[in-house]
Amino acid sequence: MTYSVAVSGASGYAGGEILRLLASHPDIEIRTVTAHSNAGQPLVQHQPHLRSLAHLTLQDTTPDTLAGHDIVFLALPHGQSGQYTDALGDTPLVIDAGADHRLTSRGSWDAFYGGDFHEPWAYGVPELLVGGIKQRETLRAAKRIAAPGCNASTVSLSLAPGVAAGVIDAGDIVSVLAVGPSGAGKSLKTNLLAAEILGSANPYAVGGTHRHIPEIRQALAAASGAAPDGIRISFTPVIVPMSRGILATSTAPIVGDVSDAEIRAAWEDAYGDETFVQLLPAGHFPRTADVVGANTALIGLAIDRAANRATVVTAVDNLVKGTAGAAIQSMNLALGLPESRALSVNGVAP
Ligand SMILES: NC(=O)c1ccc[n+]([C@@H]2O[C@H](COP(=O)([O-])OP(=O)(O)OC[C@H]3O[C@@H](n4cnc5c(N)ncnc54)[C@H](OP(=O)(O)O)[C@@H]3O)[C@@H](O)[C@H]2O)c1
Repeated sequence: MTYSVAVSGASGYAGGEILRLLASHPDIEIRTVTAHSNAGQPLVQHQPHLRSLAHLTLQDTTPDTLAGHDIVFLALPHGQSGQYTDALGDTPLVIDAGADHRLTSRGSWDAFYGGDFHEPWAYGVPELLVGGIKQRETLRAAKRIAAPGCNASTVSLSLAPGVAAGVIDAGDIVSVLAVGPSGAGKSLKTNLLAAEILGSANPYAVGGTHRHIPEIRQALAAASGAAPDGIRISFTPVIVPMSRGILATSTAPIVGDVSDAEIRAAWEDAYGDETFVQLLPAGHFPRTADVVGANTALIGLAIDRAANRATVVTAVDNLVKGTAGAAIQSMNLALGLPESRALSVNGVAP
């Protein structure tokens, strides 16, 4: 069977990456691409790397243009998806790359986003531990999927094994994360001009204000069985001059007198059988360059006895494992297709 697909936000970074991956998916026909200010223009004018889709023209994003497909991807600024998801009741599968359907707590939505609150959908991070099982079980046969925030899923995948096994203290997490400017989208922003970021590392949303914090707390609470209030995280993102990529360094206190082997076993047990989330051998740590273009999260784990903390360094491509790859991996699960279809474990290097 071939599934017809519409991709909204097709002129943007997340929409473009969804299209790049779908273009090599054998079960998918990309029928419709939509945008907003750039509607009416050829897709390749905005995504000149997508040569196989040169026949497509960006249409207006309306309920009518999105209706009538088997699958709709929404890759819109947060707060914009809800108006379309309400009108897509007849669409068999809808996947939102935005934040609108990620949070279960209305209070967290109000505090970090504001505007209308929409119901939470199945969270599109298949490898995440949730109450002793993996999130992929919830994604099988799901009809509505919320793809993750790129920073949020990186930090959650980094720490979920440790909090689930009870070997690290989720009440005192510190995470500092380097991210490329594509994580902030394609629209023109002065602070993202080349002159502002080249040769500079730029912190933003410092002091507990980043919108991905409630998403991390929600995911780690689900992994550990604790209430979100029991997850306390100091999270600081830093924009660095690489077009794509995330390198998250997260630490948390070691609980009790667990051995190094017991701590490492938490991550080995969680990810030993996974294709796209891989724990590196002891003493090895990932680089963002190793995951560019790949749907892979690479994790390095160190046990810092002097500080009595576990240190987890994780690299992902924000546009692949951080959003489009997660969306398509989740789509494959929802459709009953091989989970890794159209997704690569290999990066592009150097
Ligand atoms: N970038 C990432 O690494 C990343 C990772 C995870 C999740 N996400 C999420 O993905 C979503 C899209 O992010 P992005 O980085 O792709 O942003 P982006 O590059 O700025 O693209 C935004 C897209 O949405 C369209 N758009 C803007 N306003 C619209 C409206 N009112 N109605 C319909 N379409 C509208 C734009 O069309 P025009 O160009 O025609 O105006 C463009 O195609 C966001 O919710 C973001 O949080 C992004």
